[in-house]
Amino acid sequence: MCGIVGFIGNNDAKKIVLNGLTRLEYRGYDSAGMSLFNNRYQIFDVYKDEGRVAKLVESTKNSSYSNIGIGHTRWATHGKVNKENSHPHYSQSRRFIIVHNGVIENYQQLKDQYLSHSTFISETDTEVIAQLIETFSQTLNVENAIITTLKLLHGSYALLVLDSMDPEKIYAAKYKSPLIVGKGPEGITIASDLMALVGYSDDYHALDDKSFVIATRDDVRVFNLNHELLPLHLKKIEIDNADTEKGEFAHYMLKEIHEQPAVLRRIASNYFDKDKSLIDPQIIQSIKDSDRVYILAAGTSMHAGLIGKQLFEKMASIPVEIHIASEFAYQKPLLSKKPFFILVTQSGETADLRACLVGITEQNYKTLTITNVPTSTLAREATYFLQLFAGPEIAVASTKAYVAQVAVLAILAYELSSKNVNIKYELGIAAAAIDTFLDSQKLIDIVREKLTHRNCFYIGRGLDYFVGLEASLKLKEISYIQTEGFAAGELKHGTIALIEEGTPVIALISDPHISGNTRSNLKEVQARGANTLKIVTEAVQQKNDEIVLPNVHPLLTPLIMVVPTQLIAYYAALERSYDIDKPRNLAKSVTVE
Ligand code: AGP
Repeated sequence: MCGIVGFIGNNDAKKIVLNGLTRLEYRGYDSAGMSLFNNRYQIFDVYKDEGRVAKLVESTKNSSYSNIGIGHTRWATHGKVNKENSHPHYSQSRRFIIVHNGVIENYQQLKDQYLSHSTFISETDTEVIAQLIETFSQTLNVENAIITTLKLLHGSYALLVLDSMDPEKIYAAKYKSPLIVGKGPEGITIASDLMALVGYSDDYHALDDKSFVIATRDDVRVFNLNHELLPLHLKKIEIDNADTEKGEFAHYMLKEIHEQPAVLRRIASNYFDKDKSLIDPQIIQSIKDSDRVYILAAGTSMHAGLIGKQLFEKMASIPVEIHIASEFAYQKPLLSKKPFFILVTQSGETADLRACLVGITEQNYKTLTITNVPTSTLAREATYFLQLFAGPEIAVASTKAYVAQVAVLAILAYELSSKNVNIKYELGIAAAAIDTFLDSQKLIDIVREKLTHRNCFYIGRGLDYFVGLEASLKLKEISYIQTEGFAAGELKHGTIALIEEGTPVIALISDPHISGNTRSNLKEVQARGANTLKIVTEAVQQKNDEIVLPNVHPLLTPLIMVVPTQLIAYYAALERSYDIDKPRNLAKSVTVE
């Protein structure tokens, strides 16, 4: 989940690389670095340190003008967060400078086998790559030295390589970690995410695995590892600059929470032509031909998948199993005879999920990726894919993507059902319901009054329990309050031992059939001193309920119920002056297992 940007062309490489790194910083932000060609001394200068891109902007402010440069923001995998382990890394003679996203699993064996005489500065796997290229360049030309190195690597990589002896080229290579080439009027940009190309490239080509690239100022050639030239499939970049800015919002997270009604409306209009759904009939038929659907995902996307299971089973009577990607990839659960797999992912690059896709594809099962990034690995490698149309989600804490995932799963379930629910209309109702709630100042007072402890519980039943899991993740990942989402009926079977005087317990109640049960569970914790809060829908509203939300279709209550919990997390982090868009230890796209 590092960010990588390189530029070569007739423009200011520093400006373009720094702009790209700023846009990609949400992918990983432990350290940042870049390399620019110093025309005066005819070498590549390297600037790097732990900390944010802003620090790199400061440290490069006196650098000389350069038409070529590469940059990197790091989420640490191998080695501490410090200057030595920051990228770019270079080979011993400093001839080769590289930035890398991914994990080289056999780096120690390669070090022992080929580099026993080399001197290393860092603890990283990346430095091994630079040293290997230098070692092979003593007997091979640069292109073959790089290709020979790539063939030895096990694991994943998105690489940019500079050769001090030829400052008119950027070499690049891709395997499992994303890398995209952009062509623009002033040069070639290569980055780990489309966002870095916006404004400098008109067209892009998403590299396939085992691609090797040679970019010059006005051209780019892509090869396979047999050095055979491959065609470029250039597509228009469809991200608008405005999508990448915060606008009048203080944080991307708040902007993206506020965008949720518009996202639902966009999904409804993109997936329906009047009342006819536009989902590929082959997807529908493939699911109908299966005897069980498996939803695989991680984190927030897994929480959306839990709602998806309810939608499929209750709307279309299709049995669904949901699995955490990192577990499914290696536990190999027993499968039904005719399984169909749905992979739910905002980024389309989650390594845990890709590990699942590789295994499933090897067994020739059909797969559908539901993602926000049509150029992503998981979109391109699945049998089918459906877009979230949520627009770029920059904040590390996922909000609008969750709501979009639930909506797209609802449309899919609708299309598989007897269609006695007008889902397009119901999504419009949900969008309007969210609109009525977004500017609730009351939540700020509630956060100040109730979230005063180190821990917190969300409790609910049915769909509200699954929303509670998502609410708990949101709160803990940006406010660092130890939060647990719990089935309301389960708390008394042990965990209630953690309830002390003032422990915050937030109940989510929307289902009239079981609201009484949850209210009883709330009384059990109140009796032990809990500081409780009730978030309810009008259908179950009672006196003294603190937060009352408009009703939406019973199967779509997660779309409205999740919103106050997202705002609670936001205000709790704001109260604590934490970095809301880039929480500690996290990254937006987890591209390592
Ligand atoms: C959610 O707020 C987190 N950022 C994280 O759990 C995320 O949902 C998870 O890493 C899955 O990412 P994906 O949707 O891009 O696959």
